[in-house]
Amino acid sequence: MAVVFSRRVIAARGAVEVQLALLVALAAGLGCHGNSTTAPTTTAPAPVAVGLRTAAAGKLIGTAVQSGYLSDSRYHATFARDFNYVTAEYEMKWNVIESSRGVNNYSAGDAIVSDAQGQGMQVKGHTLIWHGSNPVWLGALPAAEFRAAFEEHIRAVAGHYRGRVLAWDVVNEAMADDGSGLRDTVFRQQLGDDYIADAFRLAHEADPQALLFYNDYNGEGLSAKSDRIYDLVRTLRAQGVPIDGVGLQVHVSATGYPSLASLASNMRRLAGLGLLVNISEMDVKIANVPGSSDSRLAAQRTAYHDIVGVCVAEPGCHAVTFWGFTDAHTWIAGDDPLLYDRQYAQKPAFFGVFDALSRK
Ligand code: G3I
Repeated sequence: MAVVFSRRVIAARGAVEVQLALLVALAAGLGCHGNSTTAPTTTAPAPVAVGLRTAAAGKLIGTAVQSGYLSDSRYHATFARDFNYVTAEYEMKWNVIESSRGVNNYSAGDAIVSDAQGQGMQVKGHTLIWHGSNPVWLGALPAAEFRAAFEEHIRAVAGHYRGRVLAWDVVNEAMADDGSGLRDTVFRQQLGDDYIADAFRLAHEADPQALLFYNDYNGEGLSAKSDRIYDLVRTLRAQGVPIDGVGLQVHVSATGYPSLASLASNMRRLAGLGLLVNISEMDVKIANVPGSSDSRLAAQRTAYHDIVGVCVAEPGCHAVTFWGFTDAHTWIAGDDPLLYDRQYAQKPAFFGVFDALSRK
């Protein structure tokens, strides 16, 4: 089965795998794994040995990873079984690649790309332009040198990974939280509002085959901020800027996320512009959810199941990426927001995702 996404025909690994996935999903529904995942339970059912990606409903199933953990056998075995799409959590960002001006070190990102390609996985580059991960020297640059540094960075990094990444988060989090418009980043100050269009054009020149995404948080449901994001990407498309999709990060809590109808409507209107939609960085916090541990885990399972279920139901939603997969390694200190616990046991949340991908 070939799935066509914009510039790339991303051939799945063959009809056999698709049929296997369907058989697996069916078997799971019939409880043939000896542990049906249909009934929400407060404690996780017996582990399923089948990876999330085999129940993937035609979507790419991804996770953020860090190169330093790839040599951990439990980490790598879990990552290899469940996912077919990889995002570098931080090691392909500007401050890591070019901590000293003019000296690009791609080793960590290359390690992630090589490992993923060795397993037939796709890679999303993250992220070319973001206010949150710039090298210290950039802020000290004379204004006259800023544009050259901006252009050289995008050309160098997107060029280095040309043909090795399926997609890029070209610009990350350019929208202000209050829905007033663009965030006042150093890029906007130095280059004007068109820095976003410029970044996409430069990335496309450097890697014409890559799918190019705008990525942001708190713009998942219908809101003032998601309206501004919608306006931005609609304008970019109207200007002929090479943009292929929008990433909805989905950093939420089990008691705080948009209504499913609102999320579906936002996905649909973005898809209506001819754009792909990704859930790009999903995690679901539970530390502040009242009640017992079991009730927190059950609420987390419901959130994962229902949100991923919206992506499964929306044809324009092309990938679901979790911002890590084990609570042993999450950016959210003091919380347990992911699908596996700190001992790599599958949590109820894992089964919520598995059921959503199995359309249950
Ligand atoms: O691994 C090194 C460690 O060896 C070193 O001793 C330590 C101190 O220098 O740094 C460690 O690396 C840190 C890395 O996280 C791993 O913990 C980096 O300094 C730190 O900058 C990095 O933070 C990342 C952050 O983005 C900034 O790049 C987080 O992991 C990552 O989860 C976070 O991800 C962002 C997305 O890119 C955009 N959306 C929001 C999301 C959460 O903030």
